[in-house]
Amino acid sequence: MPASVVAPDFAGPRERVARALDALCDRALPTIGGPVGDAMRYAIIGEGKRLRAVLVMLTYDACGGAGDVAPLAAAVEVVHAYSLVHDDLPCMDDDELRRGRPTVHKAFGVATATAAGMAMVPLAARAAWEAVESLGLNRETGAEIVRVLMRASGAGGMIGGQLLDLEGEGQHLSYDQLERVHRCKTGALIEASVEIGARAAQAPPDRLAALGRYGRCIGLAFQIADDVLDVTATSDELGKTAGKDIAFQKSTYPALLGVDGAVARAEALVDEGCTALAAAGILTPALEATARYMVARRS
Ligand code: IPE
Ligand code: IPE
Ligand code: MG
Ligand code: MG
Ligand code: MG
Repeated sequence: MPASVVAPDFAGPRERVARALDALCDRALPTIGGPVGDAMRYAIIGEGKRLRAVLVMLTYDACGGAGDVAPLAAAVEVVHAYSLVHDDLPCMDDDELRRGRPTVHKAFGVATATAAGMAMVPLAARAAWEAVESLGLNRETGAEIVRVLMRASGAGGMIGGQLLDLEGEGQHLSYDQLERVHRCKTGALIEASVEIGARAAQAPPDRLAALGRYGRCIGLAFQIADDVLDVTATSDELGKTAGKDIAFQKSTYPALLGVDGAVARAEALVDEGCTALAAAGILTPALEATARYMVARRS
């Protein structure tokens, strides 16, 4: 990592979400068992940055939440982990390396990986519901949180974006079309992470609006940075195969704007998101550092 990239200290939140994910697997996976259960555990426990979970926790803290939000943050990570399992399948990005290890279908076979990914969606919904109950949230708030998570994962969010991404292979998408793909396939779940943390802390509408803007900005910026890293980082640094986007003829921000132009766009989005939070009086140092890390990271 270059000296200029200072990673925020995520050790505490990452440790808490790791414990919540372990507990969820111990509680839920024995009833599934067999290779599908093993594949789910492999996908869920793998070494991710846990940025979406960290965002749930930091937003919850920024909005004055006082409970243990880690189990709710873990539910978001289960959706994200599932998206990676399916993203790597031969019928999608056909990847062999993820988080520094063989992808789930390389380790367990395509049929098992497909089923494991599918089973992680209801697992995430269950985890989210159990978490909102343990936080003592009223049913309306709890239901809205689960709705936000499922909506961001579905056809109008992540899945829809993944389909647009596949349809776009070999095409020269316009700037606006590419922005839509990125906002859906990646931005939606990141925006939802921020909203979920805020709703769990019962944030008022003006804060929800500012956090929504922040979430949308950093969600898009994150995928722009992912595109940049695909052409500027090594597979060793990334723990996944570098250079995939060119190999699969994906439209990307560096292809449209150049690497410097893409980085500038991502940084401008981070500035915009942080400015929105500052105006609403909730720009904590941790939320700012995390936003900046999302584009400055090297993995
Ligand atoms: C990778 O996400 C997939 C994208 C949406 C770009 P992350 O870079 O957050 O992956 P992990 O969780 O750290 O492995
Ligand atoms: C993935 O985008 C978005 C998801 C919803 C998983 P990419 O296909 O660029 O992610 P990586 O580069 O494989 O992690
Ligand atoms: Mg993909
Ligand atoms: Mg991919
Ligand atoms: Mg990528």
